[in-house]
Amino acid sequence: MYTEQMLESMKKVAANREANAALEPRRMTAEEKEALLAKFHPDYKQDEFAILSVGGNKGEKVPTELRALLEAKSRINPADIDLSKADYETDVLIIGGGGAGASAAIEADEAGAKTMIVTKLRIGDANTMMAEGGIQAADKPNDSPAIHYLDAFGGGHFAAKPELLYKLVTEAPEAIQWLNDLGVEFDKMPDGTMVTTHGGGTSRKRMHAAKDYSGAEIMRTLRDEVLNRGIPVIDFTAAVELILDENGNCAGAVLMNMETNELLIAKAKTVILATGGAGRLHYQGFPTSNHYGATADGLVLGYRAGAKLLYADTLQYHPTGAAYPEQIFGALVTEKVRSIGAKLVNSDGEVFMHPLETRDVSAASIIRECQERGKGIETSDGQGIWLDTPMIELKNGEGTIEKRIPAMLRMFGKYGIDIRKEPILIYPTLHYQNGGLDIDADCMTKVENLFAAGEVVGGIHGRNRLMGNSLLDIIVFGRDAGKAAAEKAKSVNVGKLTLAHVDAFAAECEAAGIVGDTVSPKLLPTYTHGNPKFEAK
Ligand code: FUM
Repeated sequence: MYTEQMLESMKKVAANREANAALEPRRMTAEEKEALLAKFHPDYKQDEFAILSVGGNKGEKVPTELRALLEAKSRINPADIDLSKADYETDVLIIGGGGAGASAAIEADEAGAKTMIVTKLRIGDANTMMAEGGIQAADKPNDSPAIHYLDAFGGGHFAAKPELLYKLVTEAPEAIQWLNDLGVEFDKMPDGTMVTTHGGGTSRKRMHAAKDYSGAEIMRTLRDEVLNRGIPVIDFTAAVELILDENGNCAGAVLMNMETNELLIAKAKTVILATGGAGRLHYQGFPTSNHYGATADGLVLGYRAGAKLLYADTLQYHPTGAAYPEQIFGALVTEKVRSIGAKLVNSDGEVFMHPLETRDVSAASIIRECQERGKGIETSDGQGIWLDTPMIELKNGEGTIEKRIPAMLRMFGKYGIDIRKEPILIYPTLHYQNGGLDIDADCMTKVENLFAAGEVVGGIHGRNRLMGNSLLDIIVFGRDAGKAAAEKAKSVNVGKLTLAHVDAFAAECEAAGIVGDTVSPKLLPTYTHGNPKFEAK
């Protein structure tokens, strides 16, 4: 199954393995990183971005694909919607059934608010479920939230909103404790101490994990807790527009049954958007590690209702997406593989970078190796670089891979690749939106009573996120949004419901000369090969 070039290159990788394993590659200087990013990181390709003509971020650049959705037509005609009768009425409406939505629901319920979740797929169909490597928290004696803050602030190019990052790192130890108490099976030493490792850009070992399916384990636990509490979860039901009241406060959502297209009205005192990311928009043609529903819906809903975006022009390309075999093209190969000893090696068997540079730098370095230096390995989908996984057991002893990264062993094993014996081919894959809705320290957007949590939020991580800070942010901000929305709901009197903002936004688009038939939110990705019969309606 391997090509001649692959086989030849693998011989060089194997021949250099022992020497490469012993190497301590130096870190890049700040100047080297800047030059590298400017030339090779996808965020710096100006012609892949477009300027918004309407809305609160008019004049700012966003990915071209996102602009098309932000400036698209609504899926509904407000004139056809009867807002006088609600199908659902609740205190806190949570849109999205991933880790942030579930955490928010648990805390809102705990605070005594009537709470419900709507999700366009099923609870747990989310990027949380697909997260592998771990969750950061400074809870060891040699570490502190202050050191965690410095690592994340530097890694994010000093652009994070300080009050959000402060919350992230200071509430992290409690978040781990909360998950542990709920029943997450973290990796532990025989004495019960949690096992922690490094991630890219961390100066301390603070990555807590459940092997290499940390997200699935966390989501399993949160989902159980939501269901055990009896919190209503309306599956296969998408939010297609937010509803405001006559005072401009968020007061619910128009929902759409994904099977029948029936429209339903949910009235709420407060709303939390927890819709996740956008990998399935495949920015710049990249494959993605994201789940099937990651189509930027929350950005569209929030923007049309008057919320603002922050850093929507910055995306994360995970350095190690699977580049081969094609059946798993773009799937996540966790950074933990490098944390526990594997290095990146080019077609000549050379280590060309420190394996734990921050993600943007690592991705750009891999792209340079392929595009400029000609040291990539050809695959049917493009090029790849070796991730020399057998180094792990050379360094840590036999059995380490099965114990620490069993999901990786299984994922490649299905295709006849034994990662204990053979290196694997990787290339950057679209993994995370660093930007999103702008929120304050209470998780509220610019729209009163509209909260947001999780990947839909921008500004927590600045312009690049470190590994393990996303599983952390969905817990910290999910919980905080749930508490804040429940508290706020106590004093809210909902006024007359309206969708006038949808008409106003459409009028603004028309005045800006925007034409076209695109509708949004997108809800599901387009893999129809041009056959409209299979398009999501
Ligand atoms: O590499 C990983 O396991 C991904 C983790 C993350 O995005 O935080």
